[in-house]
Amino acid sequence: MYWRDGRLYLLDQTRLPAEVEYVACATAEDVARAISEMKVRGAPAIGAASAYGMALGANGLDAADRETFLAGLRDVGRLLTASRPTAVNLRWAVDRLIDRAVREPGDVPALRRALLEEAHAVLHEDVEINRRIGAHGQVLVPDGARILTHCNAGALATAGYGTALGVIRAAYEAGKKVTVFADETRPFLQGARLTSLELMADGIPVVLIADSMAGYLMAREGIDLVVVGADRIAANGDTANKIGTYGVAVLARAHKVPFYVAAPVSTVDFSISDGAAIPIEERDQAELTHFQGRRIAPEGVKVWNPAFDVTPHGLITAIITEAGVIYPPYTANLARVCSGNRGS
Ligand code: MRU
Repeated sequence: MYWRDGRLYLLDQTRLPAEVEYVACATAEDVARAISEMKVRGAPAIGAASAYGMALGANGLDAADRETFLAGLRDVGRLLTASRPTAVNLRWAVDRLIDRAVREPGDVPALRRALLEEAHAVLHEDVEINRRIGAHGQVLVPDGARILTHCNAGALATAGYGTALGVIRAAYEAGKKVTVFADETRPFLQGARLTSLELMADGIPVVLIADSMAGYLMAREGIDLVVVGADRIAANGDTANKIGTYGVAVLARAHKVPFYVAAPVSTVDFSISDGAAIPIEERDQAELTHFQGRRIAPEGVKVWNPAFDVTPHGLITAIITEAGVIYPPYTANLARVCSGNRGS
């Protein structure tokens, strides 16, 4: 994503890999729509987009004084946070922007300038954070590793470099040979459309598999580690990520394969004690009944389409953050390692 002449431009991920097209967002409503339609997706990327959404919303507020401005800004924040419920990065970015406006002295134009500056900072910091996640995580990747990943936790899902794919990129850049197996990730196909595209673009060997092949792959061919991203991590380490992640974690445990979650500290939600409290988005049933606009299931069939699941902390070998690699017991270690990094 990039900012130019008062607009946020988002690479439309629903069109990849066939078409490379950017959508221009001129208002907070445009950004909220792009997030809910998944033109931009991935927890850190929607966090950064919503930071710009706050700056755009601030520009559109008709407020002469600070108090009216701040009240309007909180409404913009509510609009953006409601656009997708599971990734906590949205709320984190909105809170960060509100906090900046509250702390900023000066009149309304000064607040508007400060909000745009803060949105730029969120975007630029995210790339740095991902590089640090990669540096910590690549140590866990043996030379010659066969790595399974689910969904897309790469450059497309962040401001750049990626979290789970950042770990893989860093291992590759360190000179290690890796082969990545990318789950296609039904029903939105982030693995097939995005992860394989990203890795191929970087020359990192990637093999695409259907989600249902992961167990047989582990049993028959062997996998050295699994690394995935996260949308929200509870204080005890329970992790919400793309639907199907939980199944991969169970398979990894059954085959004694280490299962790593890579995510920035901002993905940890210390306000909830365990995964049961994480709101799970349910998406349109058409994602299952239709494929590329064509009906593939009988008319009237009942559909359940949760977009995320929760992997219990007991199945997670370690959580890789920019502050370091965190091992169980997560309640104590997440609090200890992340305390100095919250909000950065
Ligand atoms: O529905 P999506 O595509 O936004 O889901 C994305 C994921 O589940 C990612 O793994 C997660 O957001 C981490 S992205 C660095």
